[in-house]
Amino acid sequence: MTITHQDELDGLKKIGRIVANTMHSMAKAMTPGMTTRELDSIGRELLEREGAVSAPQATYDFPGTTCISVNEEIAHGIPGERRLAKGDLVNIDVSASLNGYFADTGASFALGSVHPDLNQLRRDGQRAMQIGISQVGHDKPLAGIGNAIGAFASKRGYTLIRNLASHGVGKALHEAPDEVPTWPTKGDNRRIHKGLVLTVEPFLSQGGRWAASRPDDDWTLYSEPAAPVVQYEHTVVATRRGAIIVTLPG
Ligand code: CO
Ligand code: CO
Repeated sequence: MTITHQDELDGLKKIGRIVANTMHSMAKAMTPGMTTRELDSIGRELLEREGAVSAPQATYDFPGTTCISVNEEIAHGIPGERRLAKGDLVNIDVSASLNGYFADTGASFALGSVHPDLNQLRRDGQRAMQIGISQVGHDKPLAGIGNAIGAFASKRGYTLIRNLASHGVGKALHEAPDEVPTWPTKGDNRRIHKGLVLTVEPFLSQGGRWAASRPDDDWTLYSEPAAPVVQYEHTVVATRRGAIIVTLPG
């Protein structure tokens, strides 16, 4: 969507805060031995308390309230009987709507202590997202996001998953502009305009290049080749002075 009035920004910020608070509360509640379904239930209750509706469930019939992807799973993991363990890398992605406004946020968390390389990957994943967000502003090229993230990733020796794009959001979970790349591209002449609402969600990896599903379910995505992957996602609004992040906890 394109925001033209303050009440639209207020509505978006409200659901942005709800999804951010939900994701961070879920991350804090993670304990070894908990199933991902139990973790999802915590998210479901928090959203319900706010009157918010899970976007993947309502939009795509996703079999869960939030997406929880553990270790080799990199996105769209279905909450279920899998038990969390110390040392797991857990991606929690929460998107929901309230009063017709949609926001989407995600982050990769470590349960207990993990290998230092993985913590470095997590820090750099957040950095990659921030670098992408810094390219958002009125009249800036949409491809600037992926080109800046790509320069950072290659300088640090990382790869990027190249078939999980960022996207427009606001009045629906996925809307125009579709397929906003978070990797380097050429020949994309689209520009960002004032008020545009979009996500910035690079998938940074130590070798992964592609996300693929497996025969067991239509949702869960895995890295190809197999490698650690982190994702950090904010919903942002473009302005003449840069981006406003709406998915901040508070
Ligand atoms: Co998301
Ligand atoms: Co998204």
